Amino acid sequence: MKVGILGSGDVAKALGTGFVTLGHEVCLGSRTVDNPKTVDWAKGTNGKGSTGTFADAAAFGEVIVLATLGTATPDAVRLAGVSKFDGKVVIDTTNPLAFSAQGTPSLAIGHTTSQGEVNQKALPKAHVVKAFNITGNANFFRPTFANGPPDMYICGNDAAAKKKVEKILHDFGWSSVLDIGGIEGSRELESLCILWVKSAIGLGNFRVAFRLLRA
Ligand SMILES: NC(=O)c1ccc[n+]([C@@H]2O[C@H](COP(=O)([O-])OP(=O)(O)OC[C@H]3O[C@@H](n4cnc5c(N)ncnc54)[C@H](OP(=O)(O)O)[C@@H]3O)[C@@H](O)[C@H]2O)c1
Repeated sequence: MKVGILGSGDVAKALGTGFVTLGHEVCLGSRTVDNPKTVDWAKGTNGKGSTGTFADAAAFGEVIVLATLGTATPDAVRLAGVSKFDGKVVIDTTNPLAFSAQGTPSLAIGHTTSQGEVNQKALPKAHVVKAFNITGNANFFRPTFANGPPDMYICGNDAAAKKKVEKILHDFGWSSVLDIGGIEGSRELESLCILWVKSAIGLGNFRVAFRLLRA
């Protein structure tokens, strides 16, 4: 499968490496065609990884991942060209973080909307599925924890797209995937990101993830 990833940060590189390890071809996109972060990443991929602009990555991907600064994501997809996403499954990892000089980040939006909903509106003919946003990038691929397997939550409006993302998550090592419904579920999942950050800082351990206990 060809995967286009919009992003040059840790999330893009961690997911890109995961997809390449599973045998997929990956193009990492940035605002600039020669971003040293993506170019360096591609050097370690045995020819399975390539780089380009956001537009190059979106055109390349049969599946597209959004891994851009949360609130800048609509700008990134406009730079890429909205029609390049039409009919495709789009994995949305983004959180609308608002950073301040001190303390942990908060959400720039929430309760009545979410970045997931904003991104789906920006890509009206794509099938956006929120995933991977509730834990740190070090836990994305083959997550192993002493207390058992973690849960990954997803949401989105298209059932077939969610099935495809669930299969990708299983391939990445997430044995338990919980589907909480339409893309408006991003309101809860993006809040979970803040809970994860505060938990990780409080515990002094970023190798943590959520698990729902079952009777
Ligand atoms: N870090 C984590 O462990 C983690 C875990 C889960 C979810 N997330 C979420 O995943 C997303 C990516 O996180 P990250 O830490 O890898 O990277 P990030 O620093 O949040 O985002 C970097 C990317 O955003 C792009 N960008 C920044 N400003 C932009 C603008 N004004 N217009 C268009 N694009 C812009 C950058 O473009 P250039 O390539 O041109 O620089 C770069 O590709 C975020 O939404 C974050 O909240 C992060």
